[in-house]
Amino acid sequence: MLLTRRHLLSALPALAMPAILRPQALWARAPQTLALPALDEGRMIDGVRVFDLKVARATTQFMAGQSTDTIGINAPYLGPNLRIKSGETVRFDVTNALDQPTSLHWHGLHLPPAMDGGPHQPIAPGALWQPSFRVQQRAGTYWFHSHAHGQTGAQIWAGMAGLIRIEDDEEAALPLPRTYGEDDFSLIIQDRRFDADGQMTYEPGMHDIMAGMQGDQMLVNGQIGAVLTSAAPRIRLRILNGANASIYRLHFADGRTFQQIASDGGLLAAPVAMSETTLAPGERGEYLVDLHDGAATMLRAELFGAMAASMGSDGIRDVIALQPVAAQAPAPDLPARLGTLSPALPGPDARRVFSLTMGEGHTMGGMMMDDDTMMHGAMMGADLINGALFDPDRIDFTVPEGANETWVFENRADMLHPIHIHGTQFRILSRNGQPAPAHEQGWKDVVLTRPGETVELSVAFSAMADPSAPLMLHCHILEHEDAGMMQQFTII
Ligand code: C2O
Ligand code: CU
Ligand code: CU
Repeated sequence: MLLTRRHLLSALPALAMPAILRPQALWARAPQTLALPALDEGRMIDGVRVFDLKVARATTQFMAGQSTDTIGINAPYLGPNLRIKSGETVRFDVTNALDQPTSLHWHGLHLPPAMDGGPHQPIAPGALWQPSFRVQQRAGTYWFHSHAHGQTGAQIWAGMAGLIRIEDDEEAALPLPRTYGEDDFSLIIQDRRFDADGQMTYEPGMHDIMAGMQGDQMLVNGQIGAVLTSAAPRIRLRILNGANASIYRLHFADGRTFQQIASDGGLLAAPVAMSETTLAPGERGEYLVDLHDGAATMLRAELFGAMAASMGSDGIRDVIALQPVAAQAPAPDLPARLGTLSPALPGPDARRVFSLTMGEGHTMGGMMMDDDTMMHGAMMGADLINGALFDPDRIDFTVPEGANETWVFENRADMLHPIHIHGTQFRILSRNGQPAPAHEQGWKDVVLTRPGETVELSVAFSAMADPSAPLMLHCHILEHEDAGMMQQFTII
């Protein structure tokens, strides 16, 4: 065995020898070949791209000999990667095979509000929901997930999420890796907690509701200990932070730099070189990683809960091992320019201020609560937007169709809150009066706000008026959202 391995190593170019690590050395436990979400192209019916999506309970083996109860979409855990060309009309035939109501939200998509799949479009057990709309979106990595009223955290924790891969001509014209499974990999990163029976029990207590529900096991596409093997000199990682609550500071164990090429809403104007980056729950980033030297490495995440300002980091965890097949010639130079981005300008039509606070002794009246939640509500106060908890019967504000507004989020809490707005992509005008960092200058639909921070956004909604279908604005820490850190507005 040893002899064979030594022979193999000596056959490799000298350059690569010192750095070669096998996955066995990178993962203490049994490594697994990375599994990608199935690329689903749907089927064409009268010019409409139709996807069949069935939400159902299942069991999944995350660890040898342990069978865990999960919820999946056309799969035991998580769902497919839906491939759509911008400009196409799509229809989703969503069947709820659960024994409870759900909903399926198209996160990041510009769409008629009645198709959004938020809490106002519940799908009853056994029912079929068939939203249809024209996708008018830049190429990028979007996703879909449960948005059932008060149950979003529980259903996503169990696995109810999947990816949307939108393609367009602008992106297709660039020399970027895009062969799925060869040099282009979609990674849903999550952390989960397993009990002694191997179950991902979802019973958030006081701490879980404040910090958000976090776990000690890292999953990539539902796998623990994944190894990505590639023969390409440069790969593209399309990463979704699919956690309920954890904010991930991502970096490689060997400190190598990588390039971010896209944010939530598609291509950046130019590649941004970085050696670490932060992704909050719901955020996506696309990154290029150079593997030509043949050296294996480990992607790592430092985890932060919502209370990181007072509690600090939850530690650094291994996420996925990258294992090049061999050393080889470098990839061609990157394009200097990527997407065409209009300058981000303040929205002149209105300025709305959203203040994020923690209520004093606020009780969460009318919500389902266990004792721990009650304690949280009474002792610490709930996370509020403009002093209020979510009320499905209250429209918090209305936005005129076609308006371009400036929305200001003032984080006056001691908590981190990643804020997400439905039905649009926005631009970050400033953080604390300073321009956003380069990798946040593109289109976004989630923005992390830190304690004490003021973030200004340019937000617009075009051609989607519907006074009867509210859109959501909320913290994407799902336990904050389910506890009421959400508002709703209509486009009129
Ligand atoms: Cu990703 Cu309102 O959700
Ligand atoms: Cu959304
Ligand atoms: Cu929050």
